[in-house]
Amino acid sequence: MPLRLYDNGGRKFEIAGVGLLGCCPVFRLKNKTECVVEVNYWSVQYNKGLQSMLKEWQSENEGIIYSYFDTYSAMSSLIQSPASYGFTEVKGACCGLGELNARAPCLPVSNLCPNRQDHVFWDQFHPTEAASRIFVDKIFDGSSTYTSPINMRQLVAA
Ligand SMILES: *[C@@H]1O[C@H](CO)[C@@H](O)[C@H](O)[C@H]1NC(C)=O
Repeated sequence: MPLRLYDNGGRKFEIAGVGLLGCCPVFRLKNKTECVVEVNYWSVQYNKGLQSMLKEWQSENEGIIYSYFDTYSAMSSLIQSPASYGFTEVKGACCGLGELNARAPCLPVSNLCPNRQDHVFWDQFHPTEAASRIFVDKIFDGSSTYTSPINMRQLVAA
């Protein structure tokens, strides 16, 4: 897939891994509102595979540079210390129905939380705009905890 971009002249790539999928509201429903361990395990395995694929791909194709974003670490950080990012709700979705607002997607009939800024999750799967903004800051200027081998600012300048 990325080889077609390479053949057309693409050299700089921003690639993001998957987050802690087991902590999405829809999975928390399956474990009494706690994260599903096996789903997080497979998220980690996927990200490992993705990173080794990127390294191999870079070594085989002259001139490729990329920045990998560790969505998993960024999400873990939000979920472990929500208050330091201004969040009060890390489990339930802002928009949905039923337990954790995660029994149904965000539809016109769904409940809407009073303050979407203090929720990490917008719906069953997706982060809120407030959480996405934090991710974007880390993608662009993040330390080596979140980006490797370089961040997006360095990628753009390279
Ligand atoms: C459910 O959550 C608890 C507490 O985090 C954890 O110890 C347990 O392994 C989880 N169960 C599953 C099936 O993921």
